Amino acid sequence: MSMKPTSPSVALVTRVYRAHVFHIAGAPAQDDVASHLVSLPDGALVVDADGRVAWVGPYASLPEDYATTPVTRADYLLPGFVDGHIHYPQSYATAAHGGGQLLEWLDHCIFPTEGQFADPEFAHRAARYFTRRRIAAGTTAAMVFGSAFPVAQDALYEETLKAGLRIVSGRGVQTVGPAAASSLLTGEKEAIDLVADEIDRWHAVDTGDPRTARVQVGIVPRFSLSVTRETLAAMGELYDEARGKGVYFHSHLNENNRKGDGEIAAVLGAYGTETYLDTYDGRFLEGSKVGGRTLLGRRSTLAHAVHCQPSELARMAETGTSIAHCPTSQLFLGSGTMPWRATVAAGVNIGLGSDIGAGDEWLISRVAGDAYKVHISEEGDAGTALHPAELLFAATLAGARALDMEHAFGNLDAGKDADFLLIDKNLWEPLEGMLTTGIRSDDEDQATLEELFTLLVGLRQPAIAAVYVQGREAIAPPL
Ligand code: GUN
Ligand code: ZN
Repeated sequence: MSMKPTSPSVALVTRVYRAHVFHIAGAPAQDDVASHLVSLPDGALVVDADGRVAWVGPYASLPEDYATTPVTRADYLLPGFVDGHIHYPQSYATAAHGGGQLLEWLDHCIFPTEGQFADPEFAHRAARYFTRRRIAAGTTAAMVFGSAFPVAQDALYEETLKAGLRIVSGRGVQTVGPAAASSLLTGEKEAIDLVADEIDRWHAVDTGDPRTARVQVGIVPRFSLSVTRETLAAMGELYDEARGKGVYFHSHLNENNRKGDGEIAAVLGAYGTETYLDTYDGRFLEGSKVGGRTLLGRRSTLAHAVHCQPSELARMAETGTSIAHCPTSQLFLGSGTMPWRATVAAGVNIGLGSDIGAGDEWLISRVAGDAYKVHISEEGDAGTALHPAELLFAATLAGARALDMEHAFGNLDAGKDADFLLIDKNLWEPLEGMLTTGIRSDDEDQATLEELFTLLVGLRQPAIAAVYVQGREAIAPPL
């Protein structure tokens, strides 16, 4: 069913994609997504020669203008998945036995694997691998936690551009750390110079405009423990200059609270702040006194936010900072579970992150499936069975919102860029079995929700037949 990918230099022609279309239309608030779910069992998506959605609706109502337009058929059509937190230099480190929780795993597995990216040949191979993995998983847009090494970042951006995917990335900054991390560390000034250089060379390199660019850059300290007050202050100054250009901020927050010697205790111990968030909010001096500029805002995403204080959630909501929720990774590292209902109630936007390699799954719909499982297992009134529309929203539109790119992608509204996936259930027999023969309610609306749930939770990579960004099929790099 999939056609040969068109090279970016070849002009597109208008095309109709006919399938069961699901998406979350409009721009709903997180607690109102169910009413914005669109299901078109025999739907049509018209993609114009500019790679934009020209029309979407029932195939039977296709406007006369498109009567002779070529048609590609598939079983299902979804907006492209958005991965809000994925580590490129951990591409090969999924399912690595760390011998403990976050801090042990970083020392034993992650710092050594990330050190390998200093080698240009290794980095180029890894960039191709990472890009292939993204296409296989239908991840059209991603916030990519970068490598410490500029040569590896250059390879990542080059491969992403060639493949036609979207990316926000930034070198992972570490100015302090344990011996195992020594190859990843730089001095304070070099750290900032390298980030500034990456912004200069790669931010919005494809269009020059952060509202339309597919390649964008962020300021990315690994976490508060891998930097100092001086680094955070210098980053705040750089961000004040760069914010207006649409530059991003990305890091980890409140992931692991093993009593006494976990990440959160270590951060609060090192900085003497009232909250972990304060360290990113310019309040990194003892007692949370202001020492610099904030790094929070609409283009800021913090991964995990499992163990936040109410004031931290309120501050993220107030500043428009998003959370990349990473339940698969949190299971892997024993980090606990982000409280879904309390976090939604606080008004923070919540996208999903694979958190490769602590997460051992590239496919964002499977991360959504893990979200379903962990939140139904939360204690007492906190427990909730997430609505299928909430899962689809978290995997697509909420991710675009976290990247402040909701105007461009995340759903299939007319006028947006055509970022979408075609799914063929026959490419993976269990999916065909679940969707064709699975039990369904007699109520039509309920049956539609059940079908969407099965599609999302039951989907596996082989059934993703084709991946499109701006109307062009993504091109997988060679081995
Ligand atoms: N905190 C600091 N670095 C990391 C990382 O690489 N992965 C995860 N999951 N948490 C972190
Ligand atoms: Zn992470």
